[in-house]
Amino acid sequence: MLDSIDTHEQEALATLAAATTSAQVEAWRIAWLGTSGRVGAMMEALRGAPKEKKPMLGKQLNAMKQKLEAQFALAKASGGAESGPDIDMTEPGLPAGVGRRHVLTRTIADIVDIFGRMGFRVAEGPEVEDEWHNFTALNIPEGHPAREGTDNFYMAEQGGIRRLLRTQTSTVQIRTMEKEKPPLKIVAVGRVYRPDTHDATHFSMFHQVEGLCVDKNVSMVDLKTALWQFARACFGPEAEVRMRPSFFPFTEPSAEVDMKMKIKGEWRWVELGGCGMVDPAVFESVGIDPEVWSGYAFGLGVERIAMRRHGISDIRWLYENDARFLRQF
Ligand code: DAH
Repeated sequence: MLDSIDTHEQEALATLAAATTSAQVEAWRIAWLGTSGRVGAMMEALRGAPKEKKPMLGKQLNAMKQKLEAQFALAKASGGAESGPDIDMTEPGLPAGVGRRHVLTRTIADIVDIFGRMGFRVAEGPEVEDEWHNFTALNIPEGHPAREGTDNFYMAEQGGIRRLLRTQTSTVQIRTMEKEKPPLKIVAVGRVYRPDTHDATHFSMFHQVEGLCVDKNVSMVDLKTALWQFARACFGPEAEVRMRPSFFPFTEPSAEVDMKMKIKGEWRWVELGGCGMVDPAVFESVGIDPEVWSGYAFGLGVERIAMRRHGISDIRWLYENDARFLRQF
């Protein structure tokens, strides 16, 4: 039995190569490497071998065993030597797990697209802001309650400058007007941060879409028209826009924006943000002459828009990343 270990090995490898199913591979394992398999029997035979030959034969036998074990592991992994995996190729395939963009990302893309068609370019600004852009230039003077520590995420002072996470995208109005000369027509979409307690309608980080149009003889009518066109494109051709008098330091006059949209079959007014005519003080802070230029601005809540469009009743779901929720959109 031990005369021709090579021959045994070749036979073993040949039969393994011929095994085409995982059942055959397993049967081969039992025949060769199993407790009463042939390799075991050869090990047994080694005991009776002449003493001087033992070390040599033992070495050969161990090498063979290791080789067979390695080949078996390979054959098992591929489910049979030549046939490839032991699967039914006539079965229908498994659907590939294709991802999708987050519902908010898609909403933002839609918003930018709608305003883009109305002639608004996209502008950007940083999320970590200084007090000039978040407050001062927007006519929110030092000591104003909106600057309170409890309503803002301030960062540690650095080089005499205290920065904060921006609370509004109105900062981008200032950044744009500092860099560019009118006429201007921009939208800025991005994250804003406020220390709110989380509930179904509040989150400490959310998104706004800011609009700014600066030109000669811009009026409240242009503002309402822009919002009205947006509402129709976003919520359907029967959507309506309503403005209610309000106050913002950076606009005069100012208004709250409501849009009338169909929610679960019922028409309802939903408050989406604020708007108004750019306050002359804001123009002055960026060196634009308010005697020559006029402008309107608006800021709308992106989550509100997404939630109303898709019937989402809790803002927190947008940030929990539960695939069961996100897959629906
Ligand atoms: N920045 C305001 C807020 O966060 C929203 C807003 C109101 C933006 C009026 C505007 C505006 O551009 O004109 O509450």
